Amino acid sequence: MTDKETEMTKLAAIQTQGLAALDEVSSTEALEAWRVENLGRSSPVMAVFSSMGKLDKELRPVMGKAANEVRQTLEAALEGRRQKLEEEALQKTLATEKLDVTLPGRPMERGRLHPLTQVLRRIIRIFGDMGYQVYYSPEVETDDYNFTFLNMPPYHPARDMWDTFYTTTEGVLLRTHTSPGQVRVMREHAPEPIRAILPGTTMRYEQISARSEIEFAQVEVLVVGEKVTFAELKGTLDDFAHRMFGEHARTRLRPSHFPFTEPSAEMDVGCFVCGGEGCPVCKETGWLEIGGCGMVHPVVLEYGGYDPEIYSGFAAGMGIDRSTLMRYRIDDIRHFRNNDIRFLRQF
Ligand code: DAH
Repeated sequence: MTDKETEMTKLAAIQTQGLAALDEVSSTEALEAWRVENLGRSSPVMAVFSSMGKLDKELRPVMGKAANEVRQTLEAALEGRRQKLEEEALQKTLATEKLDVTLPGRPMERGRLHPLTQVLRRIIRIFGDMGYQVYYSPEVETDDYNFTFLNMPPYHPARDMWDTFYTTTEGVLLRTHTSPGQVRVMREHAPEPIRAILPGTTMRYEQISARSEIEFAQVEVLVVGEKVTFAELKGTLDDFAHRMFGEHARTRLRPSHFPFTEPSAEMDVGCFVCGGEGCPVCKETGWLEIGGCGMVHPVVLEYGGYDPEIYSGFAAGMGIDRSTLMRYRIDDIRHFRNNDIRFLRQF
């Protein structure tokens, strides 16, 4: 055999063996191994290229061309095999992971507002219709706003009516009611007339039970102007109760005491569960207490920047949690803030 013939047979064998081995390849890992073995730097075809220098001069171009053809054939076969493997893999997943496009889609669940938010929004709408503006005041308050400016100087025994969370910062606490906002609104707007409601979270250091939580929500009502009267307070609260609890809702004011109002009253509405006849919800009294109210105390007006000789005002504070509890006959106040979706879904 001539040199040429020997080299040509060698090349033909490389190609045949390479192609035969490729036929056995059935995974992408094996395919990569085959590539390294048959087309990599130390593969037989590449060895032919590197030993080319030892051949006769006239033989080199012929052999170079032939070796190139073998390499191209192997490369093309590799590509063909790769595509075939990919196609097979696709067919396999299509067969095993069947997608049934006729299945009905999963309905998107609609979100809803928290019952407390719903009640709060109703209250805001009712007072909004009467021309009140909504004012938000801080949940972390100073001792001054929470007590002193509300006519309860340091050491005043009335402070004990509110079990207070104090912070480690002197004079800073978590507000126990929304009333401190009264003085904030007044200071911002004096001597303009005021008609505002102040909703928000309030906190008290209390034993948690089915009826009390350490965190709850209140709405404060504040009106200040010249010649604001107690009759207007009663009329406003009546109007509010009618829209909130129904046309036939009855209201009553009971004399009470708060340091920041004079005179002060407790406001009740006729029990909307039994209609006033007496039931467990109203503890057989026929009435439900919804909050405190009264004429803004002259000391508070002064702290707010209003001359009590010229201006007067009324204020009220209502608990939202309690009335929402009663309204929906919820048995435990703790449901409101533990975020159980089964509870929240009912509203
Ligand atoms: N801030 C009082 C409380 O939380 C409720 C209250 C009573 C608010 C009388 C008022 C008011 O504005 O006039 O117990």
